[in-house]
Parts: sequence; structure tokens; C-alpha cells
Amino acid sequence: MKRILIIALGTVLTLSGCSADSGNAGGINSKKVLRRMTIEEKARFVIGTGMTGSTGDNAVIGATQLLVPGAAGTTYPLERLGIPSIVLADGPAGLRIDAKRSGDEQTYYCTHFPIGTLLASTWNTALIEQVGAAIGQEVKEYGADILLAPAVNIMRSPLCGRNFEYYSEDPVVAGKTSAAYIRGVQSNGVGTSIKHFAGNNQETNRMNNDAHISQRALREIYLKAFEIAVKESQPWTVMTSYNYINGVYTSESKELVTTILRDEWGFEGAVMTDWYGGKDGGKQMWAGNDMLQPGKEEQYDSIVAAVKKGRLDMVELDRNVERVLRLIEKTPRFQGYKFSNKPDLTAHAAVTRQSAAEGMVLLKNNDVLPLDSKIKHVALYGCTSYDFIAGGTGSGNVNHAYVVSLLDGLKNSGYTVSENLKERYTRYIAEKKKEIKDKIEEDAKKDAQSAMLAQFLPHPLPEEMLFTNSELTVQATGADLAIVTLGRLSGEFIDRSPSDFALSDAERKLIEQVCNVYHKAHKQVIVLLNIGGSIETASWKELPDAILCAWQAGQEGGNSVVDVLSGKQSPSGKLPMTWPVNFTDVASSSNFPIDQDPRIDMFSQGKTGNVRNVDYTDYEEDIYVGYRYFDSFDVPVSYPFGYGLSYTTFEYNNAKIEQSGEKTFKVSVQVRNIGKAEGKEIVQLYVSAPDNKAANKPVKELKAYTKTKSLKPGEQQTVEMTVNESDLASFNEEESSWVVKGGSYRFLIGASSQDIRQTLTAQVQGSKTKVHNVMKPVKKLNLLHR
Ligand code: BGC
Repeated sequence: MKRILIIALGTVLTLSGCSADSGNAGGINSKKVLRRMTIEEKARFVIGTGMTGSTGDNAVIGATQLLVPGAAGTTYPLERLGIPSIVLADGPAGLRIDAKRSGDEQTYYCTHFPIGTLLASTWNTALIEQVGAAIGQEVKEYGADILLAPAVNIMRSPLCGRNFEYYSEDPVVAGKTSAAYIRGVQSNGVGTSIKHFAGNNQETNRMNNDAHISQRALREIYLKAFEIAVKESQPWTVMTSYNYINGVYTSESKELVTTILRDEWGFEGAVMTDWYGGKDGGKQMWAGNDMLQPGKEEQYDSIVAAVKKGRLDMVELDRNVERVLRLIEKTPRFQGYKFSNKPDLTAHAAVTRQSAAEGMVLLKNNDVLPLDSKIKHVALYGCTSYDFIAGGTGSGNVNHAYVVSLLDGLKNSGYTVSENLKERYTRYIAEKKKEIKDKIEEDAKKDAQSAMLAQFLPHPLPEEMLFTNSELTVQATGADLAIVTLGRLSGEFIDRSPSDFALSDAERKLIEQVCNVYHKAHKQVIVLLNIGGSIETASWKELPDAILCAWQAGQEGGNSVVDVLSGKQSPSGKLPMTWPVNFTDVASSSNFPIDQDPRIDMFSQGKTGNVRNVDYTDYEEDIYVGYRYFDSFDVPVSYPFGYGLSYTTFEYNNAKIEQSGEKTFKVSVQVRNIGKAEGKEIVQLYVSAPDNKAANKPVKELKAYTKTKSLKPGEQQTVEMTVNESDLASFNEEESSWVVKGGSYRFLIGASSQDIRQTLTAQVQGSKTKVHNVMKPVKKLNLLHR
């Protein structure tokens, strides 16, 4: 009787496409389901439902028309057993689904929230959780089940094309930001997929690059961010990356997805591949990569053959099936949630506007911001002032209903702008964009490879328009102030090039000329950066009066910028990565692809080549990523890690360290607002180990951070940060252990990595924790050493 019921219910669920009004709160008896599944069904079940029009040989970003059009993929339904398909959709700056459906008048726009880098720049985990909760509501109300986000890979080089989706060069910031995001999204009863696990730090040849990383750098840097997030937030799923690490595809690495992720960290959810990632379906199953997305016939064959030939034990396949069943059981679709297709887009516009303003980083301010109430009329330069970039391209894009440009943002707040400039720019941008589009279309006709590049790569931005000095002089006479916006657009499949990091000749000239003419007219100039990753600033930062890094701030971007410019919101973001003087100063720069063919086809997948930084990449800088390198080797930077100004200033007093129990250190400090404006301060706690040079440890490492509430002038707050002794460990490869050397440690409380305000010391006992000796490099690396 019971059995009949299950079958009947399953039929209802799946025949109706598990529509909004079906329900199944009873849970899945996985043992029973497994007993009734044939091997063929099991093999189908652990791969997705495929992607129409794609054989798995070409580059893709996920797109399906099943259930929720435009979502990245769906799981395989088991109609006769009552197991519905669930919907997986990107991530991370909001839900990515199609905004329009054929034959349907309704629209399905999603809120374009700020990019990951901006969220990390808030250093405000409570705020990030709120943003996650808003994103999760859209996931749930549009009928999706798992959001393919957050993306937590370490910013090893400023040139990685997907850095905008990522959080930081530091694993603590990346890990804590991810954990907050996951908690927020999952508070809606929908899942996340933390990605790309792991070592996906470049886009060039991403399906086939072998990242050669020491066990120490893996443990301390590249896996650490995932470890923190997994332990602090239990994402429902983890997405393995496309690349190899030390000779093994991550999705085929049992050491990574079982030994480390599950056995050591206690991950309880399911693991899925990135879209068409990895090569050998049977091996992926054996490794514990439970689900292959979006799924292709070859993988099905491979899994069935692996079982039949004894390469894959049925017990292992059953284990994976069971994990996917457990995942499905938790989803709104299985539970019959009646989604509305009407998330609260108005409320979410307010969330994105406010969070974007909080993550903007004020890099320079010579008495110009917040704008004086006398400033009314603004001259706007730079194409992106008029055509604001909300986020990057690829799967991290969002189909938004609108983007508020800086022009609109200023107008919305009662400023006037030069109409003449506006007309010239509007015409110029339209012309240039058409030229760019025509060229791309022309190129696409050449061959299949060019067509694919045209489809997936970010389009170039129009070159900046220049003015004569006399034109600028006239414009300066009519304006109270000038803003010059510089834009950058990057995305999946391709890394940025050094010329994208540098200013173009036209950009440099525009800044020079505008500053020159406006300063002569005693008017100030602000440079606004509408970018997804750092750019060169050292050579020109002296010129303008203020520089505000607005990042790619989502669909309300222009409003958020003006909230900061006008002083409605005091800037309180700080950089989650170092801004180098030259990109060649970054420790990884000689081991990173420069202007290489991105190789976005998948025909070579699984074949090994020998081109350095393309077929393989040696992470020779080892653990010296970002400030760990710059600060330990005294290399000058343009803006240090953790840097950002406010409209006020803060004083740090009365720092204290208290040992609670044997292994926990509680650090507290009083932060007082000693300036004239209200503001929040981000307080960073670095630790410097004894004899760090001899021990080949960075001179300091971030271990904790916190943000004050908004403090009024004169107001103070005592903030507290906790560090456990185990957080101080370094990974010792010989002993395959986390080792904390006993001795006197310095606890540095700073406003940035290079602005240490208070120093404390504490005696640390020392400890050693053995872990598995796994993921060994395949060759000896010439590692950087202090
Ligand atoms: C990306 C993933 C994304 C997936 C599905 C892949 O190209 O690397 O981040 O989640 O597509 O769209």
C-alpha cells in the first residue's frame, strides 16, 4: 500500500513538472529507493539532464529550458520513484535565469546585487548575510533550489578574469565572507554550491590547466577559505573546479573531495562538478563527486562501464545516489513549496543600494568628499559614467531589469549634469558600441573558434573620448566639479591582460587634461573606478582630489555611488586585496598566463601539454600570496591590503588580550570616532609568529576582523576578536601536520595591513595536529622562501 502511494505521489510530482502546487513533506526513504533503482537509473540519476544544443565539447555557461528557463541545470527525475528534478541556477551576484519566456507576458528579472569583491570589501558579515538572504528569497520565489554560489577562489593574481566573483587574496576574509553569504541564502530553505573547489585561480585553459601547488600553500591558502566556509556554514553542495591540482582533476580526486572535504572537515552535503568538468565519470563517482553537471552521454556510459568492470563499487555509486537524494529531499521543490514568481524586487533594490555603498573603498580624499552642499552642477567624464557596469560577464552575470548609471544617480539626488557632455557621450557610446558589435559579428563569421569567443568573452569597452583644452575650459566654467569614471569589464573564460590593468593612453590623457584644466579653474576632480579588480593607480593617483573605488556595484550602482559622494552614507569599505604598483610586482606574476589564447574549447580536455602557465602553472610563490608577500619582502604597494578611508577618523585605545581557557585568545580594543562625521571602522587583527623569518612564515597574517557599528563623532565602541591557538598553525609537510610553535606571539591590531595601531603579546603553548598526507605535488617546485 505504502509503495503504491509513493509511486502515485511521484507520478503527480513529476508529471506536473513538480509545479508550484505539488507537495511532499514526507521525506525520501533512500534505502528503499536505492533498492528499486536499476544500475542504469543510478547512472542517469547522478548526472544532470544535459544541455540542449550542447554535446559537452564546447564552452558553456549553464542554460536549460526545463522547469526554470535560463537556470544552469536540473537533476535527473526518477518519475516512477517520485523523485523530482531540482533546479540549479547561478550565482553569485544574484540569481541568473531568463528574464523573459516565450508566450508569457510576465517578466522574471532578478536583482543584480554587487559583485563578490564589493561584498568582501564591506568586511561586514551581518550585512553580507542580509544580502544572501535577499538573493535566496529570489532563488526560492522563482522556483530554483540551489544557487551556484558563492565563488571563493583566492585572488592569486590581479589578472584572473573571474576575480570580480571572488572575495579576497586572504583566506580568512574569503572564508568568512562566503560563510555569511551561505548562511543568508540558506536561511530561505534553499541550497548553495560553494565553488570552484579548488585552485581555479586562472581562466586560461581552465578545463585543462594543472595547478602545481605545494601541500602547505594548499592547506594554508587555497583550501583554507573553503575550510572556513564549510565548517562555519555547511553549504548544501560543493562544486569542484575544472582544473587539475598536482596532476589529478579536482573532480576525480578522492583525496580532495572525500579525505579532506568530508573526513577532515566534516562536510555533510553533496558534491557536483562544474559544467562538463573532469574527464572520467567512473573515477569522479569513485572519488565522491556525487553529481556530474549538466551531464552527457559519455559520462553515463563511463559510470555504467566502471561498475560493470569493477572499477566502481556499487556501494560507492549508491553512496553518491543517496547524497543526491538527501539533497533533493531538503529542497523547496521536493517539499512542494508554492513559489510565487514574485520576489520582493523593490525591497531587494534597497538592499543592493545600501550594501553596494558600504563596500565602496575611498582611496584618496583631499577635502573634496563628502560633497559640499554648494556643489550642484557636475561635469561627468568617462563612458562608464553614462553606461555603468553592474557586474562581470559569464555565469556570474544577472538578467537585471535596469542599471542606474552615475548620471541617473546624480539626477536622482538632485544634482544637475552638463547636458552638452551628456549628449556627446550618449552619441559617442552608441557609435562605438555599434562598431565593436559589428567587428565581433564580422570576426564570428571567420571560424567556429571565433564564433565561440564572440559568444562568451566580455566585449571590449569603448575607448575614452578626448576633448581639447579649450573645450574643457568651457565645460569647467559651467560646472562646480568634475567626475571622471574609468571602467573595466572582465569575465569567465579569459584572464585580464596587463594592458587592462594599466590605464590606456586615452584614459591617462583624459585624467591629466581634466585635472589640469579644472584645477586651473579652482575646481576639484574626483576619479571613480567602476571596476571588477585592481588597476594601476601609482602613476596617476596624485592628480585627482579624490579617488573612490565603486567596484561593479550592481543595478543600483549610480544611486549607491551618489549616496557615498553626497555623504548620505559614509564610506566604510576596505580593500580585500593589495593594489600593487605594477602587476609584475605580484609574487605570482611570472607564473601566470599573460595574453595567452584562452583555449575555451574542450577538445583537449584530459590531454597534457607542456606550455608553462597554460597547460600547467607552478605556484612558486607558495604561501606568499598578496600582502603575505608584499609585507614580508618589503615590496612597495600602491594601496595595501585592508586599506580604505572614511569621512571621519578613528583612534584605537586600550587594547587588551585575554586568554580564555588555554587555547583561546580574546583581543579587545576601544575604537573612538575622533572626526566630525559619523562612520564605521573595520578593525583587523594580524598575528606575527616568533622568529617568523627563520620559520619561513609571513611577517604577519590576518586572523580575525570586525566592524564597528556606525559611530557618531566622539562615540566609542569596544570591539572584540577571538583567535584560537589552532588558527596560528602552519602546515608542516614533512610531518603532514598543522604545527603551532610555542613562544611569544605578537597580536597586531590594525586599520590596514600596513597601519598597525596597537601591538600586544601573548605566550602560546604550541601544538601539533596530524592530518592526511594527501595531494602531493607531482614535481619539485622551486618555492619562494624568506
Ligand atoms: C562556471 C560555473 C557555473 C556553471 C553553470 C561554468 O561555466 O564555471 O561557475 O556555475 O558554468 O553555469
